Amino acid sequence: QTIYLKDYAPFGFDVREVNLIFDLAPNATRVTSRIRFAAKPDAEHPDFFLHGEQLKLIRAAIDGQEITPTLTETGLTCDVPDGAFTFEAEVEIDPANNTALEGLYMSNGMYCTQCEAEGFRKITYYPDRPDVMSTFTVRVNGDLPVLLSNGNPTDSGEGFAEWHDPWPKPAYLFALVAGDLVAHSDHFTTVSGREVDLNLYVRPGDEGKCAFGMDALKRSMKWDEDVYGREYDLDVFNIVAVDDFNMGAMENKGLNVFNSSAVLASPETATDANFERIEAIIAHEYFHNWTGNRITCRDWFQLCLKEGLTVFRDAQFTSDVRSAPVKRIGDVIDLRARQFPEDNGPLAHPVRPESFQEINNFYTATVYEKGAEVIGMLKRLVGDQAYAEALDLYFARHDGQACTIEDWLKVFEDVTGRELSQFKLWYSQAGTPRVKVEEDWGDGTYSLTLSQSLPDSPGQVDKQPMHIPVAVGLLGPDGDEVRETQTLELTEARQTFRFDGLAAKPTASILREFSAPVILEHGVSRDAQAFLLAHDTDPFNRWSAARVLATETLIGMITDGKTPGGDYLDGVLSVLRNDDLDPAYRALMAGLPTQSELAGVLADRGLIPDPMAIWRASETLKQAMAQHAQDLLPRLHSQMRVDASYRPDAEQSGKRSLGSVVLSMTTRLDGGELAASEYAKSDNMTLQLSSLGALLRAGKGQEELAAFYDQWQADRLVIDKWFGLQVSLAEPDQTCAVAQKLTGHPDFHWKTPNRFRSVLGPLAMNHAGFHHGDGTSYALLADWLIRLDPVNPQTTARMCSAFQTWKRYDADRQALIRAQLERIAATPELSRDTTEMVSRILDA
Ligand code: ARG
Ligand code: ZN
Repeated sequence: QTIYLKDYAPFGFDVREVNLIFDLAPNATRVTSRIRFAAKPDAEHPDFFLHGEQLKLIRAAIDGQEITPTLTETGLTCDVPDGAFTFEAEVEIDPANNTALEGLYMSNGMYCTQCEAEGFRKITYYPDRPDVMSTFTVRVNGDLPVLLSNGNPTDSGEGFAEWHDPWPKPAYLFALVAGDLVAHSDHFTTVSGREVDLNLYVRPGDEGKCAFGMDALKRSMKWDEDVYGREYDLDVFNIVAVDDFNMGAMENKGLNVFNSSAVLASPETATDANFERIEAIIAHEYFHNWTGNRITCRDWFQLCLKEGLTVFRDAQFTSDVRSAPVKRIGDVIDLRARQFPEDNGPLAHPVRPESFQEINNFYTATVYEKGAEVIGMLKRLVGDQAYAEALDLYFARHDGQACTIEDWLKVFEDVTGRELSQFKLWYSQAGTPRVKVEEDWGDGTYSLTLSQSLPDSPGQVDKQPMHIPVAVGLLGPDGDEVRETQTLELTEARQTFRFDGLAAKPTASILREFSAPVILEHGVSRDAQAFLLAHDTDPFNRWSAARVLATETLIGMITDGKTPGGDYLDGVLSVLRNDDLDPAYRALMAGLPTQSELAGVLADRGLIPDPMAIWRASETLKQAMAQHAQDLLPRLHSQMRVDASYRPDAEQSGKRSLGSVVLSMTTRLDGGELAASEYAKSDNMTLQLSSLGALLRAGKGQEELAAFYDQWQADRLVIDKWFGLQVSLAEPDQTCAVAQKLTGHPDFHWKTPNRFRSVLGPLAMNHAGFHHGDGTSYALLADWLIRLDPVNPQTTARMCSAFQTWKRYDADRQALIRAQLERIAATPELSRDTTEMVSRILDA
């Protein structure tokens, strides 16, 4: 059954107050609800329907009188009196057998919840839609040391705790946690003097992994006050780490629940990348308190209203506390790796989708990451000052409301007087715009002609031109900037922009800072790219020039058997050698496009990608780069050594990331000697993992791999890495066998999403291994998806996207993938989640 945005209708009742009592028991938890409803004044005899799924109804009453409601698979209806009334229900649920991890479930003996998007209906009967907001009072009865819910604690004693959340909220923000947990505590004083108790609750044994997350929380709270003027609004802020979780984390009001991989960290067990991700996710969930909770979404089609904005805010935070260019480059790498394939394949959908079968399938890179890009474009178009004013107006006007994209854009229109209807197409037209660049030069005038086009996507053809901000700067022949960055507003299908009074033909640096999520079709020559790589004053575009050169080099190697060009190798070498540049940035400059990205570029040019040829070219280029940099490596290696005690900050982690690039290059030349000695002396996970990885890539390191397992056997987050590394670094014709073997390992607890993903995620990401011509990797992934689906539909459906690029490949591979997709589709009682994903991938 498909739900449409255009069918939105408000609920006929207000919910004034919700009272819940939980009597916890693993297989038979009782949930008693008392909910105060009132028919909306303008609604005449509205239908009273409450969502409810997999609930055992024990008793229901209205105003104290028992009733016998009509029950269906999806909910409950009954006759209700006019005006206000109290609905009561007592239901029984079975958290211990809830393997879908949605609603109330158990993880390692602890109770926890995940209600977004539609999980609350598995807890009790309720209008489970985000535009129904109410205050909640919760009593938890259970024989466990820690009993938590949203809001402020109001009472507690032997075997119970009571909580009250004074801020009206939709049910998807409800949370309950109960277990044998320990708290890492701290406190924060808000700008207006509110004292807030902060707690990070973890399982005993994990106390040593809390300090960084707590520090990140305090920094986030301060940042949101300083930059957005947003203050925290309760007496407590609790975070809980759980091992079984479908996503990264969840912003439940006053009680965030985190996948333990997204919060627990120590130098010995977490990499620099883990620390940075944790800092960003803590910030993201905290920032949701205003963008998501205080102002929420009217319906799930508006998901990007809270997610795009909150991703944008967490990216601003990371840029402020680390390096802005490094963050931007990382985000663009991620966007191209995850969002572009989605936007250019069968799963393409607008940032604000217009229909869905299962909303959980729309927590996508398009809604989140492209949604954040849209905010960035808006900010660039209106300017920083107007952006700040628009945000102030948004918070003032909509606090306590459930809003739409129209509400969001209106505050910008009201503040700036601009008309944003063309800009709004970013929310409704799917697909990645192509922007073609043509240049012209004469009589001191340089002209740039930009043409845009937007490919068809499922359900959408003949699209309108978009409003695209293209940031451009011009460099003179000596590399000096002759025109500072300015934003060209491309609004027509084809438009020419002129720059007058120039002494010599400039080199244009186009789409600086990646000012719009588009694919540039360069008219710019390879020489101009090499010039930009050497001189561009915009760090993003300087990196981008290296990327373009690397891509063209690899494509030449793949399609014409060319050898790597000196322009690329020399350009990168001089960047690596330049000690004025941030090491983290230099490390990024040395990176190659992923093999899957190359496959996408080839397909975009009408060629059929050969995964083995792509793999070989990438290996050859890496080898050539290592040889080219040979003389520099020893010096860089010692320069990047960090002697101070470990800190996960930008400075140290930047040195380690360039150090790790140097180590991989060196390992290609010395057969693993340096990597083995680095492994032996590694005292942090970043170095331990990078040196082990370098060894495995060189076909060595089996002893170290076994030692690593023995050392970390008891640490599930580290063992996830141990599983993942082996699959991601396996050679193409070994990948399937390695993954297959690991799925037989006694520690392969496949019902835990993190562990499932640790093997099957890298299988799908190992491009040449996954797309091995014999099709065995496709079959292995499909086998496991079929097995996981009845247990955990959400995680299964999400991983189906591994097949989304199937139409890029040759007929044989397409046939192999089609057979697997059809086999999944034919599985009896396949979940709605997976059914929707597979049919979308197959149909287009
Ligand atoms: N709102 C959460 C976040 O962005 C994600 C939760 C998504 N959950 C889901 N079942 N789709 O931080
Ligand atoms: Zn979010």
